[in-house]
Amino acid sequence: MPKYHIITYGCQMNKSDSEKVAGILESLGYIPSEKMEEADLILLNTCSVRERAEEKVFGKLGELRKLKKKNQKLLIGIFGCMAQRMKEELIEKFPHVDFVLGSYKFTELPKVLESLNDNNKKIVLAEDNPKPEEVDFRIIRRENKFQAWIPIIYGCNNFCTYCIVPYLRGKEKSRDPQEIIKEIEHLANQGVVEVTLLGQNVDSYGKDLGNVDLADLLVEIHKIPGIKRIRFLTSHPRDVSDKLINVVATHPKICPHWHLPLQAGSDRILRRMGRGYTYNEYKALIEKIRAKIPRASFSTDIIVGFPGEEEEDFLATRRALEEIKFDTVNLAIYSKRPGTPAASYDDPVPYETKKKWFDELENLQRKIIYERNLSMIGKEELVLAEGVNPKNPKELSGRTENYRLVFFEADRKLIGKFLLVRIIEARLWSLRGEAIREVDL
Ligand code: SAH
Ligand code: SF4
Ligand code: F3S
Repeated sequence: MPKYHIITYGCQMNKSDSEKVAGILESLGYIPSEKMEEADLILLNTCSVRERAEEKVFGKLGELRKLKKKNQKLLIGIFGCMAQRMKEELIEKFPHVDFVLGSYKFTELPKVLESLNDNNKKIVLAEDNPKPEEVDFRIIRRENKFQAWIPIIYGCNNFCTYCIVPYLRGKEKSRDPQEIIKEIEHLANQGVVEVTLLGQNVDSYGKDLGNVDLADLLVEIHKIPGIKRIRFLTSHPRDVSDKLINVVATHPKICPHWHLPLQAGSDRILRRMGRGYTYNEYKALIEKIRAKIPRASFSTDIIVGFPGEEEEDFLATRRALEEIKFDTVNLAIYSKRPGTPAASYDDPVPYETKKKWFDELENLQRKIIYERNLSMIGKEELVLAEGVNPKNPKELSGRTENYRLVFFEADRKLIGKFLLVRIIEARLWSLRGEAIREVDL
């Protein structure tokens, strides 16, 4: 039987797509290969959000050139956002690539592989306005037995001025709520206990359908027996509704963890980014959520050095991190993306200054996280045991409601179960705890 190997870059949506692709391949008789070198088919699921993300793929393609030389029969395919952005150009630059499938086109894999086997011609499938297509959820090969990613809305209509995602993933399209429920019921029957609903902007869910929104969907999912924990991301600070906050506050299975990208603390920069909120509006939203849900936690994304950002703007972002004290901050230096409005903005600040700002924010955030972790010592947290600690086979790893990684000694039989864990030690990126007892939710 032919073997496949998929390498995934980018966001959770890409991870979810790779699970679909693995499912499609296995339904065609392929089996997974742990080692890339032993595979007959290597697929790269790519990301274009920053130049760095693309460079990683170029590097990997260089490596693959050698493998292809050794094994002429090896098939190499690229899908995901870079495939959508570069299309034929990828084959021109990397002639050892056999096929390129733009956004959502991986559903054509069966046909593509068949025609590649018939004649060795290169294939590029990518449309300018890509439209999502569904994959039968019964065939999806999930990475994890107890947790599942569930895309609920594809695409993005926001067009923040720095961002390439809307150009590559197309218009927002919500999945049918009945289909989502059916998929989650199916997973619950197979033992999945935690689901994470995915979308570039989950608050837009249902806008194109008319009679349903994210809050309604969460209430329905909450009713599914077997599902014990529900997460959702990404929320847009402009669009989080009171109704949603109420639903999260009153439904215990929904983790009160919010991924709310702030992007910048300066109103001038937020306006130039086209984010649709001011810092004070953002802060008011956080305060509103904290008032309703005292145990709520927040993570965010920050772009450092957006074109035209000045010292003053950077200081506003630093102040924001100090004020809000996020649980996690994904920091990135601004990267110019071709075709986006910000790519033509004046960008006079040298990279060294941006790097200095970045390092300063990173150090600040480390301190905040460590303090936050220290403050958790002695607390009892509900943790889903997810697997064995790769560095210590006696320990299991899991995550708290607020997505903190915890290691604790416990029997492997407890993987997939919820445990009450007392936090006994704080580290920078993780916590250590002791298991108190299993909790039957
Ligand atoms: N829909 C999500 C995720 C988009 S991409 C959202 O709205 O947040 C994830 C993150 O990448 C963004 O939040 C942003 O912080 C970052 N990002 C996007 N474009 C970027 C660029 N050109 N340069 C640097 N970071 C960028
Ligand atoms: Fe990009 Fe903005 Fe859409 Fe997020 S909301 S995917 S940052 S355009
Ligand atoms: Fe990257 Fe595309 Fe996701 S650009 S962040 S893989 S939507």
